[in-house]
Amino acid sequence: MTTPERRPLVAGNWKLFKTGSEAVALVRELGQLLQPAPRAEVAVAPVFTALVTVHDALAGSEIKLAAQDVYWEAQGAFTGEVGPLQLKDVGCHYVIVGHSERRQLFHESDGDVNRKARAVLAHGMAPIVCVGETLVEREAGRATEVVVRQMNAALEGMAESAAARIVIAYEPVWAIGTGRNAAPSDAQQMHAQIRSTFAGRFGQTLASGLRVLYGGSVKADNAAALMAQPDVDGALVGGAALAAASFCAIVRAAD
Ligand code: 13P
Repeated sequence: MTTPERRPLVAGNWKLFKTGSEAVALVRELGQLLQPAPRAEVAVAPVFTALVTVHDALAGSEIKLAAQDVYWEAQGAFTGEVGPLQLKDVGCHYVIVGHSERRQLFHESDGDVNRKARAVLAHGMAPIVCVGETLVEREAGRATEVVVRQMNAALEGMAESAAARIVIAYEPVWAIGTGRNAAPSDAQQMHAQIRSTFAGRFGQTLASGLRVLYGGSVKADNAAALMAQPDVDGALVGGAALAAASFCAIVRAAD
């Protein structure tokens, strides 16, 4: 469970699901179910094309808007890309960067993730930087090495003044969409490692405020045990974020 200075964050990554009208219907339902206000901060990450309508539907709500990806240039001849300036313009507070689906399916490198995270910070938003090992890496005993490498690459060249806004999501690739979540004790171990890697760069004070989310088959029935771990400060939720009831149950597990 997070310490008082770390408010838990539960973010729904909707991936490539929901049209604009479906997205609006979901946030309306979330708004109703999240009364009274939960202890956790809540964010939703719809597809790019739904950001504007979801932003409008969230008017007056505490729920924060997040994007699922970003390109690092603010403008230029980059056909098909969406930059940080545009995401800021439509009211994004958070931007997910380095999700394992981006790394695996779209060949994003550690360097790309670093450029994206820095672009998000430079435009006053907060990156949710995803790290996590594959099953092959875990079985080879390399999980920690991989996650520390991803962390160090993502944080390279970042100013200490911006570091306080960074959120890390530990998403073991083998746990994503598989129904097989990390054991709470394994998640705790990696989260503690992530915090100490961050401390190595930015010092203990900033590290003690860093929020480290867990992602990978988080459901209503396993969320409480995961979030009860001292270094698990919330969740990045995929499938269970697509229905208001299951997402809200996860949000309440952080109360
Ligand atoms: P699932 O919750 O569907 O496993 O997805 C996790 C995830 O990738 C969130 O970013």
